[in-house]
Formats: sequence, structure tokens, C-alpha cells
Amino acid sequence: MSISVFKCITCNKEFDIQEIRYRCDCGELLEVIHDLQQVIPNPADLKVKLDGKWGEVAFKRYQDILFPSLPLEKLITLQEGNTPLYDVTPKFPQFNSLKLKHEGMNPTLSFKDRGMVAGVSWANHLGCDNVICASTGDTSAAMAAYAGATPNMKGIVLLPKGKISPEQLAQPISFGALTIGIETDFDGCMKLVQNLTEKHNIYLLNSMNSVRIEGQKAIGIETLHQLNWKVPDWFVIPVGNAGNISAIGKGFRELYELGFIDKLPRLAGIQTEGASPLYESFKNGYSELVPQTAKPTKASAIQIGDPVSYKKAIREIKQFDGVVEIVSETELMDWKAQIDRLGISICPNSSVAVAGAMKLNRDGIIKQNEEVVVILTAHGSKFSNTSVEYHKDKTYQFANQTLSITPNLETLESALGL
Ligand code: F0G
Repeated sequence: MSISVFKCITCNKEFDIQEIRYRCDCGELLEVIHDLQQVIPNPADLKVKLDGKWGEVAFKRYQDILFPSLPLEKLITLQEGNTPLYDVTPKFPQFNSLKLKHEGMNPTLSFKDRGMVAGVSWANHLGCDNVICASTGDTSAAMAAYAGATPNMKGIVLLPKGKISPEQLAQPISFGALTIGIETDFDGCMKLVQNLTEKHNIYLLNSMNSVRIEGQKAIGIETLHQLNWKVPDWFVIPVGNAGNISAIGKGFRELYELGFIDKLPRLAGIQTEGASPLYESFKNGYSELVPQTAKPTKASAIQIGDPVSYKKAIREIKQFDGVVEIVSETELMDWKAQIDRLGISICPNSSVAVAGAMKLNRDGIIKQNEEVVVILTAHGSKFSNTSVEYHKDKTYQFANQTLSITPNLETLESALGL
């Protein structure tokens, strides 16, 4: 076989990787399969070599595992990756170890850059002039940035009007994408973009494009590399359209096949109470997905009721002995405040995962002697209104209210209690 092929996740039919294709003829999602034995005949050698490559862009460092078919001269990178893995165990002794992988420290401040380096580079290789996505904010920012960095490529983004933060909206506009607000929710935008790309020659870069998923495998792979390939017991991940949990799981399976790791972590996917289709399915023994109209949540990036990558996600969660949990709005906002307070600025979607880890630990599903990594998916600065509103409201447990005084030394002294 050629190094990489598309393969249907249900009927196993294969397609040429050079084809522009997002689904099988049977309608199911595809995944990219690489002949890793051919690309990496000696995994032990590669493992040693990787240690000398920390100075390299993450996509290049792990390219043999991520997407070996991409010609390097087509790579469009904004220096994504090499994100910090914070050890916060001393603050949370209820865990044997708790580490936070901060994917908000990427160029457009979210983990989506990991996927776009693969997706936009592949679009560049295929010679696509127009790329498009539907988005709750972060995918559009990343796609617009990488399209902007590519010669002769135009980004088009479809956003649910009024449902994304001002900082998220500013990104695609500034990066030069055609930005279209639509009077619907994310699921509505997603349907439209699928219908459009079935008819017209515009390259789709949502996570149903399985090439993008290959780039996102780097999040888990890099974390394990930072841990010297010592596998923690759990990875906890916020879930919206369910592409990221699928990507991280696929990367781990490939590392296991290569013998880089000798055990698999468990996966925990976390959603909000009002947007919980994956949770409902999990609770009912992985019953069929029942699409929801997702309710508004502070975690607006995961306000998704009909996740496109549902089947892939379920497959990974089963394989990794995983669980799915939900958290309330108060839980996610209080945990955001507590992590922000440590100097680690996180978005409300990331704090869904933190709150989930805490809940699973409290309920005894994550045990006290276990090691846990939580994936933080975007930076707090993308959602500054959420923080300002929280801290204004003294009914919130961790609110840090601002003071407002007249320009007068005595008033200042009195405000400081001096
Ligand atoms: N966290 C953030 C910050 C996100 O932007 C998203 C998804 C997720 C978590 C969930 O990841 O969809 O792979 O399960 N945002 C998409 C977007 C939907 O359009 O930006 P997922």
C-alpha cells in the first residue's frame, strides 16, 4: 500500500489519500491509516532520536507518526506545539499526580493549531485555493491564521451569530478570512458547510476531515514524550464535536503498536449538563447518539448537540476503558477561577475538563493513587468577558472584585487598609 490511505471506520473500504474525501461511500467517517512499519522500521531508534529534537517544531518532530505522507516543503507552520505541561500536584494532594497540558499556549491560543498545521499543509499540497469550516470560534481562528500564512489561500468561516466571544471573532477577521455569521447554532453551521462542500470545490477543514485529526494526535504524543513515555492513568479531555478525544486516542493506539508505550491510559470525556449527547449515550451503554439542541453554556466552544465524530469518540472511549461525565455551570466557572488563580489562564471549555477530573476523583472513579493529565484546550484570554463577569458577581465563591476609588491618597490608603 502507499504510506497512507483513507479507511472507512465501519465498512473498512479504502480510498487514495490524494483524493479529496471526508466520508466513505456508505456515509461513515474515514480515518487515515499509515503503514507505520514501512515508515518506522526501527521504533526504538526513532524514540532515542526524538529526544534530540525538542528544538524542532512539534509537527516535524513527530511527523513519521503523525502524517508521513505530507511533503515537508508543503508544511505551513506557525511554530505550534511544545506547549507547557504544568505540574499542579502540590495544590491538589487528592491526586498522586495532576498535570495540566496547556494547549492554549499555541499561536492562536487553542489546540486547533495542532490540527490545522496538518490540515492546511495538506490543502496546500493538494493545491486548494479555498478552505472552509464551521466553528464555535477556535477552529475558525486557527484555520484563518494558517490559511493566511499560505500563499494564495482564502479562508471562509461560518460562525453561529452572537454565540462566540469577541476575541474569537476578532481572530478570523484579522487573519483575512471571509467571516460569515449565521442565525443558527454550531450544529446548524456544520450541516450547511457539509452540504456546501458536497456541491462545491472548497476544502473542508472541520475535524470530520480526518487529515486534521492526524495533526491533533501530537497533543497526546507530546505529553507522553514530556513524561518520558511514562503513561499516566488518565487523560481528561473536554468534548464538543468529539474530534479531539478521537485524535488523542488514535495517537496513543499508534504509540502502543510501535512499542513506545507498554500500557494505555484511561480516557475521560467531559461535557456540560446542557450539551451532553456523548454522556447520554455512555450512560445508556453506548446507545445510539440522540442529537440534542445544545443549551447555552459558558463553555460556548462545546455547545454542540450533534457531534460529528461521535462514532470515532465512542470507539476510543471503549478501547481505553473510558468514562464520560458532565459538570454544571457553577462547577466549571468555580474551577476556572481556581486554576486561573494559580497563574494558569484557562478558558471555560478547559475548565469543564478540570471540573470533570475533580468530580471523578471525588466520586472515587479516579483514585487517589492515580496519575492524571488534564488537557486544557484554549487560553483564558479568548474568553475575557467570562472572567470579568464572574469576578464582578460576589455570589460566586472565588470572585475577586475590583475596587473603584477617587484619585486621592487617603482613599487609596483606606482601600488598602493602611
Ligand atoms: N475546547 C475548545 C476550546 C474548543 O474550541 C473545542 C472545540 C473543544 C474544546 C472540543 O473539541 O470539538 O474536538 O471535541 N471547538 C470547535 C470549534 C468545535 O469550532 O472551534 P472537539
